[in-house]
Amino acid sequence: MRVIKAKSYQDLSRKAANIISAQVILKPNCVLGLATGNTPLGTYRQLADWYRKDDIDFSQVTTFNLDEYVGLAPDDPQSYHSYMRRNLFDMVNLRPEACHIPDGCAADLSAACRDYDAAIAQAGGIDLQLLGIGSNGHIAFNEPGAAFEKDTHVVTLRESTLRANSSFFSDGCVPRQAITMGIRLIMQARKILLIAEGPGKRNALHRALYGSISAEVPASILQLHPDLTVICHVEEDT
Ligand code: PGA
Repeated sequence: MRVIKAKSYQDLSRKAANIISAQVILKPNCVLGLATGNTPLGTYRQLADWYRKDDIDFSQVTTFNLDEYVGLAPDDPQSYHSYMRRNLFDMVNLRPEACHIPDGCAADLSAACRDYDAAIAQAGGIDLQLLGIGSNGHIAFNEPGAAFEKDTHVVTLRESTLRANSSFFSDGCVPRQAITMGIRLIMQARKILLIAEGPGKRNALHRALYGSISAEVPASILQLHPDLTVICHVEEDT
């Protein structure tokens, strides 16, 4: 595990974008696992900026997002489909057919989960997975107590996660269920890049990286990943 302390959110974002960019340069047809939330926004802005400057080419890249809310259509402005289009997909030359996000509106959610796992396997697995961490230690929507051995599945969200994500919803009403990649699937990524921003993440990050490995802190399993890089900016700014 490598832990890199960033000087600022901008520094964190540039460092994370640099690692993603290096992955794309080294393997132009790589498979990226992508995350949503507040933390990756600066990373995506930086990648879009480098794309505009002709410094990075996504034309052969395939992506798989971690999760999506159940019941939100892809064109719902509050869906993760919309978030990804707004913040990355529409800003760079990723091929739309190469960008995958779980289908939260599928009539058969279990079949949608199985199809998602199959599509990742078909693409050859994930080369680099970008991850955030919840202040309760969750990764993707794998909440405390989640089983480590799951692939893509449907989850019911915890109150703390609903509260944390309510700022993204104009009416404050966050869907209560989501489809998420499970921890086993996340752990199969060849490399993992975890980014954590803000003092609110300090405790969860510390428990994840240095505490005992326990389902109560889902991110703690990352200690066992053979190629984990953490970029964090979690101290109070002085
Ligand atoms: P955030 O979410 O980037 O919005 O803080 C991260 C997470 O909950 O996984």
